[in-house]
This record gives sequence, structure tokens and C-alpha cells, in this order.
Amino acid sequence: MAEDPAERRWRLMNGCDRMLSGNRAPSLRERLADLAASSLPELDGRADVYGGGGPVTVLEKRVAGLLGKPDAVFFPTGTMAQQVALRCWAERTGSDVVALHPLSHLEVHERKAFTTLSRLRGVWPTAERRQPTAQEVRELDEPFGTLLVELPLRDAGFLLPTWDELNALVAAARVRGAKVHFDGARLWESTPHLGRDLPTVAGLADSVYVSLYKTLGGLSGALLAGAEDFAAQARAWRHRYGGTLFQQWPAAVAALAGLDRELPRLPEYVAHAKVVAQALAKLPGARIFPQVPHTHQFQLWLPGPADRLNEAALRLAEQQRTWFCGPFTDRAPDLACAEITAARPALDWTADDVTAAGTALLELAAAG
Ligand SMILES: Cc1ncc(COP(=O)(O)O)c(C=O)c1O
Repeated sequence: MAEDPAERRWRLMNGCDRMLSGNRAPSLRERLADLAASSLPELDGRADVYGGGGPVTVLEKRVAGLLGKPDAVFFPTGTMAQQVALRCWAERTGSDVVALHPLSHLEVHERKAFTTLSRLRGVWPTAERRQPTAQEVRELDEPFGTLLVELPLRDAGFLLPTWDELNALVAAARVRGAKVHFDGARLWESTPHLGRDLPTVAGLADSVYVSLYKTLGGLSGALLAGAEDFAAQARAWRHRYGGTLFQQWPAAVAALAGLDRELPRLPEYVAHAKVVAQALAKLPGARIFPQVPHTHQFQLWLPGPADRLNEAALRLAEQQRTWFCGPFTDRAPDLACAEITAARPALDWTADDVTAAGTALLELAAAG
């Protein structure tokens, strides 16, 4: 029987000696051992119970402090956290209309839960593949109660505004009498491009969601930060949405470990992503977007089809114990796109290493 494709990918990826994009996905035993071996004092304490106590409360306080917000609420998913945030603002503003980008996670990847479950309505300041401008928000042709800004806008290529553009965007929402919510799933790595620290960036918004399992490498989960009365309301809605789990300590502990390990390294990853992007741009037929990455993630476009590139990446892993990137997806006839993440493993790669491995990948793809 043929090996399950996901199993094959995982096996080959973890058998590699070096990785350009992403991080190793260790076995569950390795992950548990790694957490148990960490020096986190919370591991010697008690568990949380129904949303409070133990590492969950420690994490909530820590992230509130990092974002400079009075309180932060733990959620099992960002999907739930943001529905709750938008619902809280809808109740307070009396408007169920949310201004957001059509490429935002809420529109593309959540089966429109904010509309179907939370009965909110999205309006789009722009449908261009970029962040909206202040003018577009100011001149939106219908009223809205909340502006949601995804920082960075992942599906458009992890795009951030400049600090001045972000300020202008927020000011435009204020002129329209709207609340501002940041989808900061990847806010952690946005500070170098914005040139401001986390509390300064988060300080622009009324509420901010951050993810615990993407850049931080946790298991799952999200934090929703804001004022104390907002957090209290969010906890009430979390309960109604079924998000106040009996215990969530594994996710909270993994996130605390991630904050210790990953947060201090992010500026280095963001800087190195520029080196990797420049080297990838030299491959025949390659396009990088954005040309100079805003965070440690960006898009690599190569002549497709995606299947051929994905198989070539697996062969490269098999033959040279080198993980390049993937998966690629077809985005246009004969044009495939992969998201590149320059994390800890990528720091070992020079520009020449990147070009050499990329050339090998393209050769394998051409050989079919
Ligand atoms: C920008 C953005 N917002 C929200 C989410 C939702 O997070 P979760 O998977 O925790 O529901 C994601 C997850 O990928 C995301 O990328």
C-alpha cells in the first residue's frame, strides 16, 4: 500500500539535516519530553480549571504585559477569539458592520463564521491585494462599527503597512466613529518593519488578537487583549461559544515556552528572510513577493505545476537530506506559489546555499 502523502512528507522532512523554510515537526514523544524538560516554574504548579489559574492565568498576564493592554483572554482558537471580539464591539457600537479586507482570514478561511454564526456583515474598503489605505477607510460608502486590520495580511504575501500608514488607517476609522481590532496572529514578527515595539503597535487598537502556535511554535490557542471591561465581556462570550475548556494547560505551557524561546529571535529571522528572498530571486523564473519581505515570511512564485515542484521537494529531501520549502499550490496556469518561513533552521543557510539547493530543486522538477 502506498504511504499516506502527509506521513511521507513528515517522515522526509524530519529526516533532513537542514531546512530552509519552516521548522521541524518533532514526534509527539519528543514534544512532550521537550516541554517536560523546560525550566518553566509553572510545570511544578497546578493546572487551570475552566479558564482560570495555573499556566493559563500566567500566560494571560504575560501577554497582556507584552502588548501593554490591561488584560488578555485565552481562547482555544483565533477563529473564536475574533468572532467574540467583533461581537463585543458590535454590541457596544450598535453596528454589526465590520470593515475588513476580502483576503482576511475571517473572509477566506473560516467559512464566514463571523457572518453565519455571529451575524456580522463585512464591507471591504478595497479588494486590491494590499492593505487598505486611510482614504479608502475614510471614504467607505456605508457606516461600519469596527475596522479589522490583519497584520500582516497573510494571503496577500504577509504585507504590512508602514507605521505612518497604520496610524493614518486607525485615525480614519476613528473619524468614522469605529472601533479598531487588530488580527495580530503574526503581530510578534511585525515590529521590525513597523519600527515600533509591541505595546506601541498594540496601543493603536482597541483590541488585539495574537496567535500562540504559529511563530511561537505552541500547540494551539490565541489571546485576545484589551481593556478590563472588554476582557470581562469576552470571557462571558467565550463561555457561550464553548471556549471555556476544563483544562488548557498543555497549550498554555507550550505558548509560555514559545515566548521564551522564539520572541527574542524574531528580529534575526526577519533580517535573514531578506537574505533568503534575495537569493531565491536569482533562481530562473522565480518571483518573490514582496520583493523585500516585511516579516520572516513571504511568497515564492515558480513556474509550475505545483505537483511537480512538491514531488521535487520530497526527492530533494530524500536524496540530499535537505528540506527546501512547500507545499506549492497552483495559482495560475503554470505558476505555483509557496510560502517561505525563515525561522531558526534558515539561519544556517547562506545566500549561496539557498541558490544551490533551489537550483537542485528546479532540476529535479524539470526531470519530472
Ligand atoms: C491571520 C490569521 N487570523 C486568524 C487565524 C485563526 O487562528 P486559529 O487557527 O487559531 O483559529 C489564522 C490562522 O491561521 C490566521 O492566519
